[in-house]
Amino acid sequence: MPPFERICHMRDVSPWIDRFAGLVPPGASVLDLACGGGRHGRVFLERGARGTCRDRNVSAVADLAGRVEIIGADLESGDPFPLAGRSFDAVVVTNYLYRPLFPDLVALLAEGGVLLYETFAAGNENYDRPGNPRHLLQPGELLEAVAGRLQVVAYETGVETRPVGPKVIQRLCAVRTGDPVALPLPGR
Ligand SMILES: C[S@@+](CC[C@H](N)C(=O)[O-])C[C@H]1O[C@@H](n2cnc3c(N)ncnc32)[C@H](O)[C@@H]1O
Repeated sequence: MPPFERICHMRDVSPWIDRFAGLVPPGASVLDLACGGGRHGRVFLERGARGTCRDRNVSAVADLAGRVEIIGADLESGDPFPLAGRSFDAVVVTNYLYRPLFPDLVALLAEGGVLLYETFAAGNENYDRPGNPRHLLQPGELLEAVAGRLQVVAYETGVETRPVGPKVIQRLCAVRTGDPVALPLPGR
């Protein structure tokens, strides 16, 4: 299977999400946006969170019905953002980019809420899909998306070769708080 297809079908938690999962307390409300198979919604469910999984194709999370809120809808239809007015303790987005949603995602976070974002960045077109600039973050773009609104706890960007790659990636963990954030031990 080509690298991008392997990424779309990954079941294991992203090490980046795992690293900061401890910032999200049990019982928290967690949105896994463009969830695919819901690998991160599942992780937070196991950790005692109340999950919402949203994707235009929710067939791969059908087994979670009754345990998480499942919303099947197009995020890029141009309609007003359907989750507007709701708030979550964590919003998780991996391997998906539709940049007009950035302000909505930040607005979804409750006080103390955590944004965990990880997706492909410019330069990835030299290796594999996605190669369309619409689907690739520009340098520092995640930082700009939260600047002045969330506290950046961690940011990373570069070329990665494992577990699947090579790929150019950008990652962010940011929190809606002005206070120092107690950094979690990995996986806690
Ligand atoms: C590469 S997969 C990533 C899945 C998951 N986040 C992960 O990392 O395992 C991208 C996901 O974005 C979803 N997606 C793409 N365009 C979408 C749209 N316009 N509205 C809602 N979901 C969309 C796809 O259905 C797919 O599940």
